[in-house]
Amino acid sequence: MYLRGSMKINDKGNLEVGGIEAGDLARQFGTPLYVLDEAGLRENCRDFRDAFASYGDTLVIYASKTLSCLSVYRIIEEEGLGLDIVSGGELYTALKAGFNMEKVYFHGNNKSRDEMVLAVKSGLGRIVVDNLYELDLLEEVCAELNKTQSIMLRITPGVEAHTHEFIKTGQLDSKFGFTLSNGQAMAAIKAALEKKHLHVKGLHCHIGSQIFEMSSYSNTAEIMMNVLAEVKERFHIEFEELNVGGGFGIFYAAGDDPKDPRAWAQAVMDTVKEKARELNLRQPKIIVEPGRAVSGPAGLTLYTVGSIKEIPGIRKYVAVDGGMTDNLRPALYNAKYTAVLADNAVREKTEIVSIAGKCCESGDMLIWDIVLPVLESGDLIAVFATGAYNYSMASNYNKLPRPAMVLVNEGAADVIIERETYDDLIRNEILLERLASK
Ligand code: LLP
Repeated sequence: MYLRGSMKINDKGNLEVGGIEAGDLARQFGTPLYVLDEAGLRENCRDFRDAFASYGDTLVIYASKTLSCLSVYRIIEEEGLGLDIVSGGELYTALKAGFNMEKVYFHGNNKSRDEMVLAVKSGLGRIVVDNLYELDLLEEVCAELNKTQSIMLRITPGVEAHTHEFIKTGQLDSKFGFTLSNGQAMAAIKAALEKKHLHVKGLHCHIGSQIFEMSSYSNTAEIMMNVLAEVKERFHIEFEELNVGGGFGIFYAAGDDPKDPRAWAQAVMDTVKEKARELNLRQPKIIVEPGRAVSGPAGLTLYTVGSIKEIPGIRKYVAVDGGMTDNLRPALYNAKYTAVLADNAVREKTEIVSIAGKCCESGDMLIWDIVLPVLESGDLIAVFATGAYNYSMASNYNKLPRPAMVLVNEGAADVIIERETYDDLIRNEILLERLASK
């Protein structure tokens, strides 16, 4: 389940990705190392694109908060996907990557004036307006620039997705979007339709992340189609687009049961088609924005084992050369991961160990209680499904440099993000002259 794309355990019992042994990657680029499997990434893009394309006018946009960098944006565009961005920084990266701006959607609940100006000037496809503050500000910005901007309005549909508290967003009590149940959504739609410089293309919603029940998506699609019908009745307008968000769950560890992208497409599109018929609506263009399911399984992280501490009868801690700085998810969400001994993986004897990070913090644990061969200092460990929300959430806590990322494909490995140096760590610091050592 954790071996995806080009990942495999080869004849020698070693982990291989992109046709290269993990040990060779570690020797060439050092550890910790983010490894991104190009074939796997492209395959994931195509799976989602094709699953939805078979139902007609649809667009899959990649939620780039999962992994935002120039080379990845290029691959995303080559595979025919659009882009979901949430900040001026991601927008800047997209511009630098030469991404077709018409296929870029700008989300977020507190876009600044500067971010809006950059977005409008760059000819960005849609700005997804989250609240009335943004609506007024964007109208003002567009008036100043004498431009019209296509927008979508983010609606909170009131769907409770079964996932971690911090990553569910569609419920009533959420910081995102216009609430449906109390009339705020309809009031916002009315206000948006009255704006001179904004062209409302449709509605957006997103119910959360790491979701496995396809019924959550069909419920959402049903609710949103009902909203489109109400809009038609009240304002005599049929919106062209409906964005039902992302959140498609992936396999991290035992218990995760990801579906095929076709199951997602079916849950959404069957509901949309049926509701369009029932409510006498034109079928809107459906947009979906998977993130982790595109980049997550295509990534793995290589670590070298350092110190090993055994507390007899209690636990064996195996410390690696990274941790919560390159993968915050276990510390932040109690997220689970799977790992293997990557090099010389034929060693058979197994034991239960816990993989610790190297930060000065007890909570810096990557994996609790995993069965692995007996490990020695110097061994290479691969942690899977780290392509999403790892590099993008990485920090320099304890002044650890962020790892490099290599893109591997058919026997070639290219650095797409350089490893940070100690100099990088103090690049923005200023040593005041009066404090400098004399
Ligand atoms: N669309 C919107 C509007 C979103 O807010 C998100 C994720 C996505 C799409 C993509 O969701 P995905 O397909 O990747 O699940 N840092 C957390 C996840 C935060 C999710 C933020 N929004 C984690 O590491 O699990």
